[in-house]
Amino acid sequence: MQSPEKPRVFSGIQPSGGLHIGNYLGAIRNWVRNQDQYDNIFCIVDLHAITLPQDPAALRENTLDLAAIYLASGIKPEQAMFIQSHVSAHAELAWVFECFTPIGWLERMTQFKDRTARQGRERIGAGVLTYPSLMAADIMLYDAEYVPVGEDQRQHIEYTRDIGQRINQRYGNILVIPEPLIQKAGAEIKGLDDPEKKMSKSLAADSPGHAIFMLDPPDLIRKKLARAQTDAEPAVRFPAGPGVRNLLEIYRTIKQLDWPAVEREFEGKPYSALKSAVADGVIEVLAPIQQRYREIRSDDAALLEQLRGAADRLTPVANATLHRVQEAVGLR
Ligand code: TRP
Repeated sequence: MQSPEKPRVFSGIQPSGGLHIGNYLGAIRNWVRNQDQYDNIFCIVDLHAITLPQDPAALRENTLDLAAIYLASGIKPEQAMFIQSHVSAHAELAWVFECFTPIGWLERMTQFKDRTARQGRERIGAGVLTYPSLMAADIMLYDAEYVPVGEDQRQHIEYTRDIGQRINQRYGNILVIPEPLIQKAGAEIKGLDDPEKKMSKSLAADSPGHAIFMLDPPDLIRKKLARAQTDAEPAVRFPAGPGVRNLLEIYRTIKQLDWPAVEREFEGKPYSALKSAVADGVIEVLAPIQQRYREIRSDDAALLEQLRGAADRLTPVANATLHRVQEAVGLR
C-alpha cells in the first residue's frame, strides 16, 4: 500500500453528505487521474464532523456514502481510504498537541471566531476550538508531505506547521512538517441559480436549484439545468455573461474541450440547446459513477470491511509517530 518513492499526500474529507459536480469536476476527478503519482491517504474525518451536532444515523450514512462515492469515482481500492475514528491514535496525538498549543493560537482561528460570533460561546462545543489540533494530528501521524486543501483551510495548515515545529524544536526532529497544496480548482463551477458564487453544499440547502449532486437522478439534473440562470440575450453570444459562461464551463470540463471549440459549438444556439447538451454531458459522466455507487452500497458489510482493513494497515504507521511523541514528552 505504501510506496516510499512517491510523495505522501493526506486528504481529509468531511462526511457531511452531498458531493456535487463542483466537488467532482474541481477536485475528485483530478485526484482519480493523478492518484498513481502519489502515496495517497484518504481519511473520512468523522471525529471532526461531530464538532457540529450530527444525527447519528445520518453520520453513519454519510460516512459510508462518501467512501462509496470516492470509490465509485475511481479511487482505487488499494489506495488507503479509512475512517478517522477507526485509528485511535488521531484522538491520542490530538490531545498532546492541545496541551502544547497556546489557547490564543486556537482562539485566533477564523473558523472558531466565525462560529462563536454566529452562535455564541455557550452554544458550540470545545471541539470547535481544538479542531485544528486534531487536524494536525491527522496529517503528521502519517509523515504526510502534502495536504490538498481549499483556501479556507490554509490557516489550519499553518497551525499544523507551527505546532509541529514547536514540538520539533523542543524534542528534536520527530515530526514531518507538511506543506499545503492549495487547490486552485481545475474547474471552478458556480451555482446554477447564482453564477457569482462558487457551487456549495451549504448554499444548496437554501436553494435546491443551486447545485447538481453526484447522486441526483437524470430527470432532476435536467430540471435543475432547465432553470439555471442565463443571460438576457436571445441566444448564446460571446463574450457570454456569468450564467452562460458557467454552463459552458461545465460542458467544457466534462468534454475536455478548449474555449474556442466550445464557442464554435454554441455560438448563436438557443439556451435550451446549451442546457440540454450540458444535461446530457453531466448525466453521461455521472451515470457510471451512480451505477458503481449503487453496487458498492448494496453491500455495506464489504465496504466497511475494506475501510477497516485500510485502518488496520495504517494503525502501525500512526502508532509509530504517536509513540515517538509520547516518548519525547515522557508518556512512555
Ligand atoms: N478541516 C478540513 C475541512 O473542513 C477537513 C480535514 C480534517 C482535513 N482533517 C484534515 C483536511 C486533514 C486535510 C487534512 O475541509
